[in-house]
Amino acid sequence: MEEPLIELVLGDITEQKTDAIVNAANSSLMGGGGVDGAIHRAAGPELLLECRRIAEEKRRQGRSPCQTGEAVITGAGRLPCGFVIHTAGPVWQGGGQGEPELLASCYRNSLVLAEEQGLRSIAFPNISAGVYGYPKEAAAEIAVTSVKETLRRMPGIKKVVFVCFDDENYTIYQRILGCR
Ligand code: APR
Repeated sequence: MEEPLIELVLGDITEQKTDAIVNAANSSLMGGGGVDGAIHRAAGPELLLECRRIAEEKRRQGRSPCQTGEAVITGAGRLPCGFVIHTAGPVWQGGGQGEPELLASCYRNSLVLAEEQGLRSIAFPNISAGVYGYPKEAAAEIAVTSVKETLRRMPGIKKVVFVCFDDENYTIYQRILGCR
């Protein structure tokens, strides 16, 4: 099996043309700031409508729209990608509340959903490394490690793009991925 391609980009995830882009959402799925806000702005109102329908259905089942570490897939509205995979990262609370495993679950469950949908390429932002305050180095290490580990079990996924929005994260990922 040929190795999947792992790319690093400094830019805006809403411009990525991968089959799916991952949104660093929150458990309500009702949008927010940061990359969540950027994705909803670029996708247009139909994305929020679909998220609201999913949230209402989950609540009818007595479930949270998107538990921390879980992933939910929707269409992409006006975005150039095909799907948006929403995942809720952990809020950093010092590292003793299971944050590392919950963050790894965001990457793992997003890839599982993409594979189940037969998608071949997916772009990730730096989940939890913004408002949720996860230390950037640790978050990047978990992102790369969990993606590489999960890809071994996802033969259908041929390309993963890590999208950094700022130089600091980009430099961290360059060092971890060994691509200077
Ligand atoms: N493209 C790519 N990355 C982006 C973009 C963008 N357009 N905009 C912001 N980012 C980056 C941030 O710079 C940060 O590195 O995404 C990373 C994640 O930051 P946040 O968006 O703050 O996400 P997170 O830390 O996971 O917090 C999630 O914030 O917006 C709310 O509703 C969201 O409650 C949730 C929380």
